[in-house]
Amino acid sequence: MPATCRKARVCYVMMLNIFLFVLIGLLWNHEEDKSSHHVVRIPSKMFWRQQVMSTSFWNKEQQRLDFIYNPIINPALSSNSVIVLPDWLNDTRPLDPCEPDYRVPTQIEDYNSLPQQFKDFLLYMRCRTYPLLINQPRVCDEKPFLLLAVKSLTPHFDRRQAIRETWGRAGVIANRTVATVFLLGNTMSVDHFPDLFGMLSHEANLHHDLLLWDYRDTFFNLTLKEVLFLEWFSQNCTNAQFILKGDDDVFVNTLRIIDFLEGLSEIEAKDLFIGDIILNAGPHRNRKLKYFIPESVFVGQYPPYAGGGGYLYSGEVALRLSNISQQVVLYPIDDVYTGMCLRKLGLAPEKHNGFRTFDIEEKYRNNSCVYRSLMLVHSRTPQEVLKIWPWIVRPELECQ
Ligand SMILES: *[C@@H]1O[C@H](CO)[C@@H](O)[C@H](O)[C@H]1NC(C)=O
Ligand SMILES: *[C@@H]1O[C@H](CO)[C@@H](O)[C@H](O)[C@H]1NC(C)=O
Ligand SMILES: *[C@@H]1O[C@H](CO)[C@@H](O)[C@H](O)[C@H]1NC(C)=O
Ligand SMILES: *[C@@H]1O[C@H](CO)[C@@H](O)[C@H](O)[C@H]1NC(C)=O
Ligand SMILES: *[C@@H]1O[C@H](CO)[C@@H](O)[C@H](O)[C@H]1NC(C)=O
Ligand SMILES: *[C@@H]1O[C@H](CO)[C@@H](O)[C@H](O)[C@H]1NC(C)=O
Repeated sequence: MPATCRKARVCYVMMLNIFLFVLIGLLWNHEEDKSSHHVVRIPSKMFWRQQVMSTSFWNKEQQRLDFIYNPIINPALSSNSVIVLPDWLNDTRPLDPCEPDYRVPTQIEDYNSLPQQFKDFLLYMRCRTYPLLINQPRVCDEKPFLLLAVKSLTPHFDRRQAIRETWGRAGVIANRTVATVFLLGNTMSVDHFPDLFGMLSHEANLHHDLLLWDYRDTFFNLTLKEVLFLEWFSQNCTNAQFILKGDDDVFVNTLRIIDFLEGLSEIEAKDLFIGDIILNAGPHRNRKLKYFIPESVFVGQYPPYAGGGGYLYSGEVALRLSNISQQVVLYPIDDVYTGMCLRKLGLAPEKHNGFRTFDIEEKYRNNSCVYRSLMLVHSRTPQEVLKIWPWIVRPELECQ
């Protein structure tokens, strides 16, 4: 194998491509030999399978978006003619995507027996615009090298403070500018939250690092958090070079991450997307699980995706994700959704051993040296975060 083939899979794809290229070339020449005049044969009909209607709700909604956006499926797109949807995709939906979509109960046969959070998700899944109640339009003025975007929940005041005092301290670290934002939705009285808005406003004025959108902050709305963050990024933070997006219960070795990023070539940096990658996964069908997805909503495998505890990617990829997400129907599991968007972009997230979203072996959890080589560990309490951080930043500490 050539020495430039660093990864077996890359090589495999490359060789397959070369093989196909040669094969097509041979066939082509063969044709030319037979016919003296050089006629290029173009198939006159579609030679790919016609789309058939999916009976699962999400898949069908996605077929609709594919039809609207994909010029291969829909030739009208490249010829600028008016898009006419096939009958099975043309239905009466509310014009305003933020109106509850009452087609849903009639289109999903077991709708009434679904868990309440599913009903909430399905009725509002077409809505992607919610007001930004607290913004930080200046947070990226210093052209951050690294933006830390932390998914948090309003009552987690202590987690945010622990992060500010440790791995998420904004400013210059290792001679690089770091900016931090916490991503929040609204905690509402329907979910039995007390009114925390006063305390939150105070916190925002004190630290200038909160982004708060006016939607209901629930597990199934985390995808909304992702999409709204990407949109905010593409408007208010386009000059950040890299993004670490993670939960507020992780420990991040910011120094190791900066060191890693500085070692990337320009090409590696451009398409960067790394984390703890989950391969060959699919929807859970057990109703008792947090990640349960009914067949009436989604069928199919999940693309490779990075566990939502934390992943690292380039600002460039974030801008592309923000664009492409318009073409991917919201899916209730946020990290899977990001994987779906990456696949649409033709990018594959890459595994990095420094990301431990399933924690490290118990015997290493008190080992100061182990944390120096890691990038992210899930999960740690605020107290643990405060205990671990000095192990990273005190170079006088012997490590072997
Ligand atoms: C959907 O069908 C109606 C008639 O049934 C037609 O007037 C409308 O243009 C169609 N819409 C699309 C987007 O194809
Ligand atoms: C810090 O970074 C600046 C530019 O980003 C560079 O010019 C300078 O040499 C760096 N200093 C050190 C000590 O690495
Ligand atoms: C997501 O937020 C919207 C807006 O607040 C809400 O209508 C919907 O019920 C929420 N969905 C879930 C699954 O909580
Ligand atoms: C930040 O985003 C808002 C919209 O959310 C936009 O009006 C504003 O111009 C943006 N600010 C900057 C500095 O890009
Ligand atoms: C995003 O889409 C806009 C408009 O379609 C386009 O101008 C822009 O170049 C795209 N950006 C990226 C990073 O793909
Ligand atoms: C780690 O240290 C703490 C005290 O600092 C102790 O309570 C805990 O049991 C230790 N855990 C392991 C796995 O050694």
